[in-house]
Amino acid sequence: MQEIRVVPAASFGTSCLASVLEAVAGIERPVIGLPTGNTPVGLFDALRAAAEDGDADVRTWRPFAIDEYGGPREHPCSNRAFFARYWDNVPGAAPVEQFDPEAADSAVDCRRMAEALGRAGGLDVALLGIGMNGHLAFNEPGSERDSLTRRVELHEASRVSGSQCWGDEVPAWGLTLGLTELLGARTVVVLANGAAKAPIVAAAIDGPETSQCPASLVRTARRAIWVLDEAAASLLQPR
Ligand code: PGA
Repeated sequence: MQEIRVVPAASFGTSCLASVLEAVAGIERPVIGLPTGNTPVGLFDALRAAAEDGDADVRTWRPFAIDEYGGPREHPCSNRAFFARYWDNVPGAAPVEQFDPEAADSAVDCRRMAEALGRAGGLDVALLGIGMNGHLAFNEPGSERDSLTRRVELHEASRVSGSQCWGDEVPAWGLTLGLTELLGARTVVVLANGAAKAPIVAAAIDGPETSQCPASLVRTARRAIWVLDEAAASLLQPR
């Protein structure tokens, strides 16, 4: 089941936050998958402000990174660096469980992440952006619904998007939670804003269910909420 929430661009961050707080409500120690990128910046800003004002309490949240670039661990464009900037300064935030792209064996590191997530009971909430090619975390087109946490080769579209920060050094591979772990969450919250995302959002919501567009598999989740600004929702069929 998927619910679509279309909100004004000006309140995108606070609207995303409202959906996240709704998804974690009543869960004692919510396990939450955290995204990176341009899309969730407004959400993290709104969360920090709410936590500072006492309107949100993240102290019990158990955060997991949903993916990481296959680059230097401390690189300023790594997802680890993103969390240092946008999550670690939220009052009460626990350290994010992260992939280690410098692990000697990526398969071992992916198993460590999957086991940590399993011990936590799996995701309660998967917070996701959507890539220009329909990827979810680094589950690129062709990723099957039963894919697991693993190392992947990044598609060209993801490398182009990543090169905004990484420039020519954009990694060729990444580490990602699988669609099994992400779409098995109690609630999946997908965020998208801006007109550039409108075609892929329309394909994911109104197009066929296919592994060629991993975001189209969101509809297989127990509960899914899309939070879209008006521009990102502009090519959806009337409903
Ligand atoms: P973006 O990335 O928010 O920077 O557009 C989204 C994604 O690739 O998942």
